[in-house]
Amino acid sequence: MPAKSDDPRPSRSPISRRQVLAAGGTGLLAATASTTRAAARTRRARVAGGDGTPEQIHLTWGENPATSLVVSWASPGPATRPRVRIGQRVIPAELRQYTDGISGEAVWTYHARVGGLRPGATYGYVVTADNDGNAADPFTATFRTAPHGRAAFRFTSFGDLATPNTAWVLSYGQSAYAVDAVESFQPLFHLLNGDLCYADLNSTVQPAVWRDFGNNNQTSAANRPWMPCPGNHEVEFDNGPQGFTSYLTRYTLPDNHVPGFGGRWYSFCIGSVLFVSLDADDVVYQDAGAFVTGPAALTPAAGTGNPAIGAGTSFYIRGYSGGAQTAWLERTLAAGRGDPSVDWIIVQMHQCACSSSATGNGSDLGIRQQWLPLFDRYQVDLVLNGHDHDYERSFPVRGADVDAGHELATGAAVNTLRPRPVTTTDSGVFDTSRGTVHLILGCGGTDAPLDEYGTDTADRQRQAKVFTQANRPVPSATPGVFTRAAADAAEDAVWSAKRDTLTGYGIAVFDVHPDREDFGGHTSITVTQYHAVGADPVNPATGTKGAPTPDYTEFETFTLVRPRRG
Ligand SMILES: [Fe+2]
Repeated sequence: MPAKSDDPRPSRSPISRRQVLAAGGTGLLAATASTTRAAARTRRARVAGGDGTPEQIHLTWGENPATSLVVSWASPGPATRPRVRIGQRVIPAELRQYTDGISGEAVWTYHARVGGLRPGATYGYVVTADNDGNAADPFTATFRTAPHGRAAFRFTSFGDLATPNTAWVLSYGQSAYAVDAVESFQPLFHLLNGDLCYADLNSTVQPAVWRDFGNNNQTSAANRPWMPCPGNHEVEFDNGPQGFTSYLTRYTLPDNHVPGFGGRWYSFCIGSVLFVSLDADDVVYQDAGAFVTGPAALTPAAGTGNPAIGAGTSFYIRGYSGGAQTAWLERTLAAGRGDPSVDWIIVQMHQCACSSSATGNGSDLGIRQQWLPLFDRYQVDLVLNGHDHDYERSFPVRGADVDAGHELATGAAVNTLRPRPVTTTDSGVFDTSRGTVHLILGCGGTDAPLDEYGTDTADRQRQAKVFTQANRPVPSATPGVFTRAAADAAEDAVWSAKRDTLTGYGIAVFDVHPDREDFGGHTSITVTQYHAVGADPVNPATGTKGAPTPDYTEFETFTLVRPRRG
């Protein structure tokens, strides 16, 4: 286990408080002025009426990443006058509180919306409250706003992170090293592709799992925005209409302007890139949210007033938006492709249209039916997923083969809408105006690596499992115990270009170059996947036992190009 596992203390940025407080009214980092006034202010802090000490501190982009950002955190008890300070500016935080529907535990979170910032600038900030136990030396860190216009920048991504506290189901020490890996690459921001901490699998202690997740991430997420999307494991019983209360309460995300569905999907623009974050729980066939396997019922704490949830119950939310998300997606993609300042469209969602994991979930026809035609029409360049705990890259795909799948139970033909590769030459440079590249990045930190991939035993071709129908709970061979079936169909995965069989852990690093003469005036994104070889508890492909490791080495690098707009 890494040293910081289980350590509930907020970690500190290497920047000194003197640096942060020294810049007067703007908060922009500078090197003058004294800390006297700030010290006097913090001495006035009092611990009264509960513990308002900030923890789980994390950043997300505001409506315009060049000028706005949100600082969010939690505290063990209700905070008095929770606030962020940037130079002489004091930004009050909005309280958002909920009571976990299973444990009955109260959770207090705070969100300070910071606007009026300068593009491409570094700011120091302080997070505190009147009853901050660290009021004399409050939490400080720095962030950088997005650049304005066609500027180069870097972002990173993975999903399926979990926490370093191995007391929790699916948590593992690699989760701490994964956060450190983000920091080591110093990206402008990080995309966290769903299945954040698997609190739903630890249903009686969900807030404690979220707390370990938030405090582990703070090492990086307090220094740069971490932009999440919901996965199937964000769907929790008795926590809101889709089970997202734990998730939505902790994150303030850009407004999608769709009434009733805030935070579930959103978009933001940085430089020449439109980022679109989706909730695939709304379209996938697979039933993989909260589930009571039995034989015992799940009984919420008496104080919640919630009834017992019987064995065999799952929380299945496919179709919850009634088409509102897909309509929003089409509007957003159309506007993006119509905007001459946008070259790239990058989609983030948890579940996969193109995964050939053998031990994991596989691909889902729901995404292929509802969203891939839109990705084709509007030339989405890149789709970033999680869900399967491995690394897989597709060739650029466009259109679909309608006669390539078969039912696993019967062998009968089934239409899996198999994505059609526009090339099967793995040249290392791909023009994504011709097809969309899908990356499976479920390689964050959970203890269940899935780096074993399907092969058709008849023709030795790569093979993918595909969900073409809902796998609702059914009785298992054990009386009173229920199970959910694996994917029902399979296809030869002609779209699969690269699979990492050495480890299920890694991080993808994306360098956006708005103008690159070496690609004939095309704009380009260089992608490098770094992986943590040896981190698998047990490598499913080789049986080799490993342990968490801080060593991330290069697995592969490739370049996406497309004609420059404007
Ligand atoms: Fe998942």
